[in-house]
Amino acid sequence: MEEVTTSDFNRLWESITRNRALADRLGITQDVPLIGFDRSEQLPRKEIARNLNRMVGEIVQCRRCELGVNRIRRGVRAVPGEGHPQAIVAFIGETPGKEEERPNRGRGASPVGRPFVGRSGQLLDRVIEYLGLKREQVFISNTTKCRSLHPDKLPPEDTPPLTSQVQACMPYLHDQLGLIQPWLIVCLGKSAATAILEVSPTSKMTELKSQIYDYPRDPRIKVWVAYHPSFILRNMSQELIPYTEDFRVVRAILRKAIENARNR
Ligand code: URA
Repeated sequence: MEEVTTSDFNRLWESITRNRALADRLGITQDVPLIGFDRSEQLPRKEIARNLNRMVGEIVQCRRCELGVNRIRRGVRAVPGEGHPQAIVAFIGETPGKEEERPNRGRGASPVGRPFVGRSGQLLDRVIEYLGLKREQVFISNTTKCRSLHPDKLPPEDTPPLTSQVQACMPYLHDQLGLIQPWLIVCLGKSAATAILEVSPTSKMTELKSQIYDYPRDPRIKVWVAYHPSFILRNMSQELIPYTEDFRVVRAILRKAIENARNR
């Protein structure tokens, strides 16, 4: 993917702000300088990490919805999310899959799974690299911490989590994001977008995507909505170019945030 220059940034920014009517209706803040707020008041890194770890302990025992109950019964792992306790960007997907929840027993076995380690994860890794970051510098999680399987299908089949399951699980994610305070949350797909923005799950992806929003729980944190990597993998030829464009904007936003923080 190519470099983002200042004129690219201005052009991209213009295209984001052009849809003013929609932006106003959705209450979108178009104020670029707000990106990259001062995080000096944040808890020390070790304390954030301790709190995040405490949450992992709760998540592995969680039975708030059927997904947790079934996961514990199936003897597979929860996927709480992973990354830097002070990440500047968080990527949020929908729900872990088979690769992520797979039990790993024996020496060095971890009680938790890792998000985005399958095919979608490989594409996400490329995106993170393109942004000039390493996986351990960002935070990655999902709207549900347990894999969502169809209750009746055999062999088991992945299915989008129910709204009630997402609602039961989202307090964990909001708490994680509240501790980490990233400058930007990138929602990968509609489920993540509607859960993070707290809008109707029936909202259309075409309306939601490619916009900058305030995170309702903390308006200093901005939200960007992009397609889910698995959608891109399924529709590679048609969608790769807009996807690349999406992440050129993310890259520009992060640069702007860093620049704003430096100039403060
Ligand atoms: N893996 C995840 O962790 N989340 C997804 O949404 C897809 C694959």
